[in-house]
Amino acid sequence: MITLKAQAPRLVHLVEDADSAHATETVPAGPPRLHLKNATVDFGNRQWPAVENASLAIGAGEFVALLGPSGCGKSTLLNVFAGFQAPTSGDVLLDGEPLRGPSAKCGVVFQKHSLFPWRSVLENVAFGPRRLGLPNPLGIARDLLDTVGLRDVASAWPSSLSGGMQQRVGIARALATRPPVLLMDEPFGALDAQTRALMQEELLSIWDRLRPTVVFVTHDIEEAIFLADRVVVMQTRPGRIAREFDVPFARPRATGVMDEPAFIELRREISEIIRAEARKSFR
Ligand SMILES: Nc1ncnc2c1ncn2[C@@H]1O[C@H](COP(=O)(O)OP(=O)(O)OP(=O)(O)O)[C@@H](O)[C@H]1O
Ligand SMILES: [Mg+2]
Repeated sequence: MITLKAQAPRLVHLVEDADSAHATETVPAGPPRLHLKNATVDFGNRQWPAVENASLAIGAGEFVALLGPSGCGKSTLLNVFAGFQAPTSGDVLLDGEPLRGPSAKCGVVFQKHSLFPWRSVLENVAFGPRRLGLPNPLGIARDLLDTVGLRDVASAWPSSLSGGMQQRVGIARALATRPPVLLMDEPFGALDAQTRALMQEELLSIWDRLRPTVVFVTHDIEEAIFLADRVVVMQTRPGRIAREFDVPFARPRATGVMDEPAFIELRREISEIIRAEARKSFR
């Protein structure tokens, strides 16, 4: 069986080959890369909107984690950033321009994997690079399958893979076009603890070299703090942005950071907010 660790050197290779404009990018003084301004999303099916009056400015190259209890509107917010869901009121801007639909600048990993069932795993990952006319789409796809530890199943159909494996294919597919913005909805939720830890390290390694802007939805508070520059905590009924926390730990981060008292204290503070919010949605 392939382990992700055995594949790690391939990631370095892939990333070193990547678009150098991304690799050297620093946070510009200009407009935020993603900007949500007083956005409300009301599906009309509850007494409260799914998201109410949310504002969030995310800089180029910033890694933001979104946390909050089930149903607080995290996926809805991500869909707004992805251009799949227009806000009922308010604005969403990408690089200062109003977002009018899905953008090629955004790679998206959905909460439920959404692979093309009629394409092989390799062809699923090569699809984006092919569509953008990038050179050597199959080479890009093979490198990424190495990165997510799935080289052995390149020619398989998605339906023959476990849920966690399909999710990793989805992650490889989102990375394949080297998008400057990565929108990830619980991307590691279906993975076992060991694979999840390896994928977190792989993602940090990719982020460190390419510096995409990342919005990462998760239920895992430790994961959010370990990965992100900023943790945004949402509240529910209606979905609102409750608190934001800057994560003070230097990069590159090793897992040992989770034992630091400041990490434990931040985890405790966030956990209390989320527990109180989760109780609300049980009423
Ligand atoms: N397409 C839709 N049509 C109608 N209601 C929707 C739609 N999508 C989401 N909702 C509602 O909006 C609210 C927020 O849902 P959302 O999926 O964004 O929550 P979430 O925070 O991602 O939850 P989870 O952690 O369980 O994934 C819920 O009340 C949900 O029922
Ligand atoms: Mg969700």
